[in-house]
Amino acid sequence: MMKNELSPSDAQDEFSGFPVVLGTVGGEKDNIITLALCHLFSFSPPLIGVGIAPERFSYGLFRAGKDFAINIPDKSMLREVKICGSKTGRKVDKFEAAGLTRERAEKVSAPLIAECPVNIECVKTTEVETGDHTWFVGEIVAARRREDYHKRDMMLYWGEYRTIGELVK
Ligand SMILES: Cc1cc2nc3c(=O)[nH]c(=O)nc-3n(C[C@H](O)[C@H](O)[C@H](O)COP(=O)(O)O)c2cc1C
Repeated sequence: MMKNELSPSDAQDEFSGFPVVLGTVGGEKDNIITLALCHLFSFSPPLIGVGIAPERFSYGLFRAGKDFAINIPDKSMLREVKICGSKTGRKVDKFEAAGLTRERAEKVSAPLIAECPVNIECVKTTEVETGDHTWFVGEIVAARRREDYHKRDMMLYWGEYRTIGELVK
């Protein structure tokens, strides 16, 4: 079968989705940012990272902070995800704007989002400038999951929102 050539940006478009998470960070102000650039960087130590563009208000907070949290919303939280992914913490308190509840973390200074079924607390270990995003990588120091949550309800995003599809065996 013939293969058609792809431009670099079309090649990046070939992915069906990346996990949608809500990053939280403390500092001069605390803030929430919707992120689809989220990946694991190591199993041992357990490292997880998020890619943030320098023009985001969150970028300065992630640079200055010692820690951050990754909160996983489920598909019922699309409205909140869109608010935290379109408004800026420079102008609004996104906890208020999205109607989300701050929760104190166990081991980090970043606030957690009570409504998210999964909260992962991270201590920042590395910053990697890659291109138009910087990856903030942190070690997972605490995490919790709501009992009734299943990851089939997490959202993926790449141009459109979806949940995971069928199991392949
Ligand atoms: C689904 C979705 C995924 C996003 N993923 C990222 C991302 O991975 N990195 C990033 O820098 N911005 C991402 N954004 C954009 C930011 O969330 C958006 O610019 C936000 O308003 C920045 O807020 P801040 O200025 O308070 O930091 C995404 C937005 C949406 C809706």
